[in-house]
Amino acid sequence: MSGQLITLEGIDGSGKSTAVKHIALKLAELMPTRRLVLTAEPTTSGAGKILRTELARADAGETSVAQRMEELFLFMADHACHLTKTIIPSLEGGAIVLSDRYTDSTAAYQGVTLRNVLPDPVQWIRSLYEPWNLPPDRTLLFVLDPRIALQRMQSRRGREKFERFEFLQSVDENFRMLAALEPERFVLIDAGQPQETVAEDALSAILELLSRGPFRK
Ligand code: TYD
Repeated sequence: MSGQLITLEGIDGSGKSTAVKHIALKLAELMPTRRLVLTAEPTTSGAGKILRTELARADAGETSVAQRMEELFLFMADHACHLTKTIIPSLEGGAIVLSDRYTDSTAAYQGVTLRNVLPDPVQWIRSLYEPWNLPPDRTLLFVLDPRIALQRMQSRRGREKFERFEFLQSVDENFRMLAALEPERFVLIDAGQPQETVAEDALSAILELLSRGPFRK
């Protein structure tokens, strides 16, 4: 596979989606001959579609353990489909693939929803992915105080299921733990800076990776 896979991760409201747009424009300008694929999880079809409908219900309230397991496996099914249909073919075609969320989101978020169910849900989820997942070449983690993230989201219409302070604080802790486990893959982006600076920092991290040339086998 001659392409590169770059994932963007962070809590809700951390500014990934805004940065992706800026990065895409800049990359197209700087590397007009490279194919760029912008994608996201949850995806917009199959399991991803079911998840998006559920996530839009802010009033979901307490869910049963079975419902939380169902949610985890829907995210995993969505990821499997995303890998097969989009990620692998794009990388084989030599594209730069930017994915707004990937499996680290599952470990970080479902690692919180399942924390009173399993002894170490983050590690368990990682181990479920390990035999078949394709690890990203780089993961940009947008780090932002959950209080500020929630303030930013107040101006958005509607509130999604996971957009609560205590929950996002635990997700943030999980993300930081994941980054500490794989420091060579993660680049931490200070998402509390002005939007343009955040996007520029993210772009620099990507350009640094791309300057190393193809290295996927
Ligand atoms: P997303 O559409 O990226 O939301 P936003 O644009 O607000 O960041 O993701 C929807 C929600 O799904 C978000 O709250 C994070 C959550 N999520 C998980 O809980 N597990 C996962 O594996 C993924 C990919 C997302």
